[in-house]
Amino acid sequence: MSKRLIFCAFTMNTVSHIYHGLWRHPETRQLEYTNLDTWVDLAKLLERGKFDAIFLADVIGLYGDYRGGWETYVREGLQIPSNDPSVLISALAYATEDLGLAFTSSIVQEHPFNFARKVSTLDHLSKGRIAWNIVTNALANGSRNFGLDDLTEHDERYSWAHEYLEVVYKLWEGSWEDDALLQDTANGIHADPAKIHKIYHQGKRYKVEGPHLPAPSPQRTPVLAQAGSSRAGRDFAALHAEAQFLIAPHPHAAKAQIQDVRARAMHYGRRREDILFLQGLSFVVGSTEEEAHRKELEIDDFLSADGMLAHASGGIGIDLGEIPWDQPIGQIQVEGVRSILEAAIASVPNTRGATVADVARLLGKTTRITGTPEQIADRLEDWAAAGIDGVNVMYSTTPGTFADFIEYVAPELQRRGLMQREYRPGTFREKLFGGSQYLPDRHIGRSYRRNNSHAADDECRTEKRTLERASIDNDRDPV
Ligand SMILES: Cc1cc2nc3c(=O)[nH]c(=O)nc-3n(C[C@H](O)[C@H](O)[C@H](O)COP(=O)(O)O)c2cc1C
Repeated sequence: MSKRLIFCAFTMNTVSHIYHGLWRHPETRQLEYTNLDTWVDLAKLLERGKFDAIFLADVIGLYGDYRGGWETYVREGLQIPSNDPSVLISALAYATEDLGLAFTSSIVQEHPFNFARKVSTLDHLSKGRIAWNIVTNALANGSRNFGLDDLTEHDERYSWAHEYLEVVYKLWEGSWEDDALLQDTANGIHADPAKIHKIYHQGKRYKVEGPHLPAPSPQRTPVLAQAGSSRAGRDFAALHAEAQFLIAPHPHAAKAQIQDVRARAMHYGRRREDILFLQGLSFVVGSTEEEAHRKELEIDDFLSADGMLAHASGGIGIDLGEIPWDQPIGQIQVEGVRSILEAAIASVPNTRGATVADVARLLGKTTRITGTPEQIADRLEDWAAAGIDGVNVMYSTTPGTFADFIEYVAPELQRRGLMQREYRPGTFREKLFGGSQYLPDRHIGRSYRRNNSHAADDECRTEKRTLERASIDNDRDPV
């Protein structure tokens, strides 16, 4: 019997998220992204289909230049316009009961005191269904939108993130003791001041007195997710993340990353099952193989090569729009992340000597599985065998990709025990892990808990040991 996989719908409060050009498809609702009904309908569909979560990505600025400027992004609706996901999450909390609600927030965009307060509020309103995708922000324009001169150096971004986490842990975990909230109407005591603590955080970037303003929410700390794949990113995930998002080109590559992060996590005293790995995949399903491939061709017809290359340029750090499309990719000198190009090529056989034009075409296909429900389930078993715990489902059309998946693929997956038929009770963390609503004791965030109301003063005495060690440990190889 296979282990069940977690299914998360990957989307964004924008027009064009991953598969660019598809916003023109007559059956997609991407243009209706400002209409709340679009999102409520989607969330309800996902919940009926027993998806574990919806995950709303976010950016805080434009991707890097393409063809020397940012016009392509605007023309393609490529993550501009884009609206705030957290506002939307609040409405979806009301429209659903079991669906996990994950959203991205960058450490650059919001002060941790305010962010912690917002998340606690959402976690209360959703009865404990919030997850946070922690991003450092890799967009120079995003940094400049928040008063910085340029993008902060890569590993320094992760050191910054460690401090950000330290502040929010102190607020979520350390500020209010479990029995601080009395709501004692008989004696007129709402909460016990001896059990609520100021945090007096003082670090390189933040000074926060506290206490946390909201009372503890069902999960206290939301489910923590992260998607970095660099060495510093993987180390950060190993220490903090409960879920890591991957976009590996094939199961073998996923396996290597999962093993690395798990080894690092165990070094931090965590268990291998403490982090769930979710691979980004898209699906085109048909009742026969021919029908599936026909549908795939139709999708490819709408794909915008310019849009796909522009988005990839942002990740790679070079302007692919300035390179002749017939140039073999092997001749391109890349300073930044070459892996995106390599992955596109490696995922399809017989593509040695691929050109820039080929890459544009392949980028849409690398993480797509096309076939009958049985064929898709077989492929998912291969991914599961490589160690993934779930899938981050990327759409070509919305809600079409999700609706097809739920109608045709989910029954086959459920038959094989690969997808849940019902939600577990409790908070999102309980639904995912089956344990407590709170972070496990062995998680770094838990070390910020205080349950000693007799402390001589109000200062948060939690040792900063692990976080400080972590920030200098980025270069360590996994044990
Ligand atoms: C599935 C997935 C989702 C991501 N979502 C976002 C996002 O919403 N916003 C964002 O700025 N970056 C997002 N990223 C980018 C990562 O947060 C990270 O910046 C990137 O993977 C590079 O990290 P690294 O330098 O540690 O390799 C995502 C990456 C992946 C694989």
